[in-house]
Amino acid sequence: MKPKVAYKPISTPEGVEDHVVYISHLQNDARKYYQCALIVAIIVTALFCLMAAQLLIFPLLCTSSTEKTEILLQQNNCSDPCNIVLVESIPEGLEYAPNSTSNPSVFQSWMYLLSQAERSVDIASFYWTLTNNDTHTKHPTAKEGELILQEMLKLKQRGINLRVAVNPSRSPAKDADINALRASGAEIRIVDLPRLTDGVLHTKFWVVDGKHIYIGSANMDWRSLTQVKELGTTVYNCTCVAQDLGKIFEAYWVLGEANATIPSPWPDTFTTLYNKESPLEVSLNNTKSHLYLSSSPPKLLAKGRTDDLDSILSIIDDAQSFVYISVMDYTPTEEFSKNRSYWPAIDNHLRKAVYEKNLNVRLLISCWANTKPNMFPFLNSLAALKSYKSHYNMEVKIFVVPVSPEQKHIPFARVNHNKYMVTDRVAYIGTSNWSGDYFIHTAGSALVVNQTCSPNATNTMQKQLEAVFLRDWNSNYSHVMNSLTSYKEKCLF
Ligand SMILES: *[C@@H]1O[C@H](CO)[C@@H](O)[C@H](O)[C@H]1NC(C)=O
Ligand SMILES: *[C@@H]1O[C@H](CO)[C@@H](O)[C@H](O)[C@H]1NC(C)=O
Ligand SMILES: *[C@@H]1O[C@H](CO)[C@@H](O)[C@H](O)[C@H]1NC(C)=O
Ligand SMILES: *[C@@H]1O[C@H](CO)[C@@H](O)[C@H](O)[C@H]1NC(C)=O
Ligand SMILES: *[C@@H]1O[C@H](CO)[C@@H](O)[C@H](O)[C@H]1NC(C)=O
Ligand SMILES: *[C@@H]1O[C@H](CO)[C@@H](O)[C@H](O)[C@H]1NC(C)=O
Ligand SMILES: *[C@@H]1O[C@H](CO)[C@@H](O)[C@H](O)[C@H]1NC(C)=O
Ligand SMILES: *[C@@H]1O[C@H](CO)[C@@H](O)[C@H](O)[C@H]1NC(C)=O
Ligand SMILES: *[C@@H]1O[C@H](CO)[C@@H](O)[C@H](O)[C@H]1NC(C)=O
Ligand SMILES: *[C@@H]1O[C@H](CO)[C@@H](O)[C@H](O)[C@H]1NC(C)=O
Ligand SMILES: *[C@@H]1O[C@H](CO)[C@@H](O)[C@H](O)[C@H]1NC(C)=O
Repeated sequence: MKPKVAYKPISTPEGVEDHVVYISHLQNDARKYYQCALIVAIIVTALFCLMAAQLLIFPLLCTSSTEKTEILLQQNNCSDPCNIVLVESIPEGLEYAPNSTSNPSVFQSWMYLLSQAERSVDIASFYWTLTNNDTHTKHPTAKEGELILQEMLKLKQRGINLRVAVNPSRSPAKDADINALRASGAEIRIVDLPRLTDGVLHTKFWVVDGKHIYIGSANMDWRSLTQVKELGTTVYNCTCVAQDLGKIFEAYWVLGEANATIPSPWPDTFTTLYNKESPLEVSLNNTKSHLYLSSSPPKLLAKGRTDDLDSILSIIDDAQSFVYISVMDYTPTEEFSKNRSYWPAIDNHLRKAVYEKNLNVRLLISCWANTKPNMFPFLNSLAALKSYKSHYNMEVKIFVVPVSPEQKHIPFARVNHNKYMVTDRVAYIGTSNWSGDYFIHTAGSALVVNQTCSPNATNTMQKQLEAVFLRDWNSNYSHVMNSLTSYKEKCLF
């Protein structure tokens, strides 16, 4: 009866009754099935051995690459007809030569975004002072900011949900905008990054209807529209990018809940597929482009998200002829940490680019009434890396926004607040100053646009951003860094 035992497990349901009646049949069948089972077992073993051998020869490479291709086919392809626009705030009284490159204003772009909104407006912000109220000023150029606030206060009536994630206020007595927004029906969450990461929520971006975004240096501050030099970008009709930025917003949003703690790891809903290794493939103004959003600090990164510092370093390393950087503050230190910490990550890559690849590295740094003098020795040290004989080509200039006697009374204004980098290949638009704290503790985000896959495109973000950099670099407002003059003279106004 042994065969019966072997037979039973592979019997089909119809065969069950037969084997009770015809025993001889059963024995015959059993022999056949037994042979069958043996053959199947041999084939399975052979296949298994083949697979094992293949795994030994190509360890994991095949499976992971096929998996990746599948994800790319499903997700890294965005058919939206995205439109990207570089936007700037040029402070009142700052004038360039005629025919200089110019871009739509941040103000225009914000007003347009608010007019287009149909369902939702999500804003990540550092602080809010859109009116003269909180700055205790009576300046006519606050008008633009006040118009933006007015439009925001009307959103709820239009059936549009406004959510604001904001860093804790330094002086709760000056929360007129936030209070007015809350009263208008907006949802406000205070994201206590000082408690959570020992930093601040310094990010500045908008996500509108899960479809349009703005990201850049401008704060929710009337001075950011008329008295401070800002640079950002608006991307329209681009759900893939907007939904990815939306994931960063949602992370701030959950951290804004009472007594929130930072999840570790972040749940899968925050995971992104778009990063420096596998950027989103998308058409920007009909030009095939790759892009991704990077973010800081590391504790706030969900799976797949490129760390903002890694993004910067990889872009410097990827350059082939130049790296142009325009940031407000630059120091290879952790300025705000209690301990004195040297932080040479970016500095090293810049020096390496100059030494190993003979790249032309240019830094355009800002100086204003509140600039800390300890930045200048480090800038001088970089500027010293210039030698025609050895082809070391590092250059540093200081940008000073002119100030009239009347403008002098506006607190914390009249400065170049830009935070971007452009290489011969890629455009990077961020929200962080370039010093250690911003990448270690502070929340910031950046958009990286890579259009090198469309070499014949006539108009790219890279070209537009390069034009902006050269306009500023060659303007009368930029001054060559000279170690013989004191920083005070450079910033004199
Ligand atoms: C991406 O999508 C477009 C339009 O939907 C399609 O023509 C193209 O073949 C897709 N590419 C990939 C790699 O899936
Ligand atoms: C820049 O400075 C030069 C020399 O002072 C002057 O001739 C020129 O008009 C200035 N350009 C602008 C745009 O102000
Ligand atoms: C500005 O551009 C126009 C048209 O291209 C040209 O006619 C004019 O001479 C330019 N002006 C200056 C100052 O370069
Ligand atoms: C300014 O803020 C105060 C206090 O929050 C408020 O009472 C007042 O209405 C505000 N004024 C304007 C013009 O927003
Ligand atoms: C976005 O798409 C809509 C519908 O196709 C179009 O009317 C609008 O002009 C587009 N906006 C921009 C800024 O390209
Ligand atoms: C948050 O923590 C405080 C103090 O520890 C406590 O009183 C409060 O109930 C907590 N709130 C929530 C929503 O857990
Ligand atoms: C830009 O895209 C090209 C491929 O088109 C890639 O090789 C390169 O690494 C990208 N550069 C950066 C800085 O991501
Ligand atoms: C400062 O340095 C001391 C000693 O090296 C260390 O114990 C402490 O954790 C550091 N503090 C910070 C905030 O990094
Ligand atoms: C960095 O940027 C912020 C605003 O974006 C500015 O207020 C601050 O003074 C800058 N510098 C430092 C050292 O934080
Ligand atoms: C770019 O232009 C060059 C020269 O005009 C041409 O040879 C090349 O095929 C073009 N490449 C693409 C991708 O269109
Ligand atoms: C994209 O198109 C808009 C107009 O629709 C234009 O303002 C902008 O400069 C273009 N951007 C690029 C990078 O070509």
